[in-house]
Amino acid sequence: MNLAVVGATGMVGRTFLKVLEERQIPIDEFYVFASSRSAGSKLRFNDKEYTVLELNENSFKEHKIDIALFSAGGGTSLKYAPIAAKNGCIVIDNSSAWRMDPEVPLVVPEVNPQDIRKNKGIIANPNCSTIQAVVALAPLHKKYGIKRIVYTTFQAVSGAGMGGWTDLEEGLKGHEPKKFPHKIAGNCLPHIDIFLDNGYTKEEIKMVEETRKILHNSNLRITATTVRVPVFNGHSESINVEFNKEFDLNELRDCLENAPGLIVQDDIGNNVYPLALNATDKDEVFVGRIRRDESVENGINLWVVADNIRKGAATNAVQIAQWIIENM
Ligand code: A2P
Repeated sequence: MNLAVVGATGMVGRTFLKVLEERQIPIDEFYVFASSRSAGSKLRFNDKEYTVLELNENSFKEHKIDIALFSAGGGTSLKYAPIAAKNGCIVIDNSSAWRMDPEVPLVVPEVNPQDIRKNKGIIANPNCSTIQAVVALAPLHKKYGIKRIVYTTFQAVSGAGMGGWTDLEEGLKGHEPKKFPHKIAGNCLPHIDIFLDNGYTKEEIKMVEETRKILHNSNLRITATTVRVPVFNGHSESINVEFNKEFDLNELRDCLENAPGLIVQDDIGNNVYPLALNATDKDEVFVGRIRRDESVENGINLWVVADNIRKGAATNAVQIAQWIIENM
């Protein structure tokens, strides 16, 4: 199995390499691609040095690549994923370019792995905030039927790539931001991705639409507010959910305890709840502050945290690759 990483020098790209190494994915030939800016530079993988190649229209014809993990921005994915697919490669794409295409499965392996089988050469990795949310919500949806979701996110700067990270690092020294429209150090920006005509940001609409697609329910009532906060890594989310059915809180907690890829951290007596700093470098999603929403009939509040670069991007994509290798 020949595998390539496109955008290998980026924040997510480098983590692809780390996770592939950790999971000992069996690879024959390995290729790392980026733009002309970093072509020729070296990356270490499995104790070997690989030269970064410039991605071009012939890259997939020249090398027989079976699976390519893309994280090089939407433009690169739009242009190159179809070229890769035409050359017999399965692309697992971390950008938002293909996520809502009806021909493209949108997959979180703990939730809808069987959708992978429907791929026609491109599989989309969901938005980081959506991934961690649905890992917690899918088991509850199955058991109680979700009626409505209210998302509020607290998203780390690593989600905006190297540029986002640098803005916070430099901002803490008093320098002006280059990536974000305002200072992120000491601030919260209720603005992730572009604003749309309805007043929502694209990030908010991604959460709404992607949750519906992954949970196979196009009518789910969902609203979202997404906020960039001065945290280097690890997204936190407040999730308010209303169910169709009544629930017992202990049973609901058991349901979360037994869900794949999810760890319950909920011991308020000892100040235990999920934290971005603790979730960093972990592959699981963490849930806590599980409590009844007393303002509605069948509602709960959850606090959900995950490493947005790992489970929110690289790990999820590598899990999809693993599933393909093991099942197809
Ligand atoms: P490069 O290092 O050459 O700029 P991040 O989101 O962390 O900033 O990373 C973006 C990644 O996408 C980098 O690896 C970057 O490579 C890569 N990239 C950006 N534009 C292209 C392109 N046109 N072709 C291939 N890779 C690209």
